[in-house]
Amino acid sequence: MKIRSLKKKKKWQGQTVLLRVDFNVPVSNGRIGEDYRITAALPTIKYLREHGARLLIISHWGDPKTSDQALSTKPLARRLQKLLAAPVKFVPDLLGPKAQKAVANLQEGEIVFLENLRSHPGEKKDDSSFAKELASLADVYVNEAFSVCHRAQASVSAITRYLPAFAGLQLEEELKNLQKILKPVKPLVVVMGGAKISTKAPLIKKLYARSAQIIIGGGLANTFWKYQGLEIGKSLCDEESAGYLSQFLKDKKLLPKIILPVDVIVASAQGKIRRCLPSEVKKSDCIFDIGPDSIALFSSYLKKAKTIVWNGPLGKFEDTPYKHGTMAIGTIIAACSTGRAFGLVGGGETVKALKMTKMESYVDWVSTAGGAMLAYLGGEKMPGLKNIIF
Ligand code: 3PG
Repeated sequence: MKIRSLKKKKKWQGQTVLLRVDFNVPVSNGRIGEDYRITAALPTIKYLREHGARLLIISHWGDPKTSDQALSTKPLARRLQKLLAAPVKFVPDLLGPKAQKAVANLQEGEIVFLENLRSHPGEKKDDSSFAKELASLADVYVNEAFSVCHRAQASVSAITRYLPAFAGLQLEEELKNLQKILKPVKPLVVVMGGAKISTKAPLIKKLYARSAQIIIGGGLANTFWKYQGLEIGKSLCDEESAGYLSQFLKDKKLLPKIILPVDVIVASAQGKIRRCLPSEVKKSDCIFDIGPDSIALFSSYLKKAKTIVWNGPLGKFEDTPYKHGTMAIGTIIAACSTGRAFGLVGGGETVKALKMTKMESYVDWVSTAGGAMLAYLGGEKMPGLKNIIF
């Protein structure tokens, strides 16, 4: 794989760079929550500024069409300004006269941040004329938005037809580290949790031949049990994934590698919390975590691994009584990483959980991506990477 790294371009000075970032960060109480995606883009922004580029930054934030999150990117520009300790001029416009004027006035090393890309209907349609107009504002395009590269959207896909395209430093590192999962030092252990089988199935299928174990927890495990005929009570279950599961359950080579929890933590209808075997779950119970025997079993595999990839919490970790499984496995993955194994963790919720362990600095690579990471590892199409990798 060849990457069109921005370091390969000799001259940035005086060039207007359209820098696509993904600052689609969580919002809590109307404020920016976790800002890892913003800090991860800082090295590219600093590099381009230091090399005399004029920076025009674009991002989406939420989805104005499908939710109430018609978010203006102004607070993102403010947060970036604070983190960089350098002025970032926000322009509440994308293509109009305000944006054009701001670009015309940009000096070397200066930054303009434009309005939410998804405020324009052309963005999500991968619309060529929208991309062409965006491109007309700049000389070069840099993609520092790996986490949205699985989407065919104008600012990552169509845009590369109109401007020379380069990979941002973080995007380049994301790809190099994800390659270590696709060509792993064995044994490879995959840890999967979360809710939806359908989003993880391609990855499980792609990695199972090279994995020693695929450890499953969270809602995914419940769904497996349900289709194996076990009672899961009122637990989270991905009903729509019956099709995927029946394929898995038929695959004689895959099944022995799938490691499910051997005990669970459940809450009864009266809110009583207890530990039991998966076969002891009652109709009125809700499974919220894996139990201590499962932690011990999963750890025994993780300790032998040379490569580990983790996506998806193993329980309802945001509630204190049910955080232990996810915290324990996150801690073990971090402890095995950086030395004993190569450890890679990705996905918004997973990274949030990892941070709660305070061990994230031990993990070799913490991806900024969730869906894009799953898509890339699952061998799906990545429209945002065309013209950037060869
Ligand atoms: C993400 O948060 O995974 C990316 O920013 C993509 O966002 P989307 O799922 O709204 O396309």
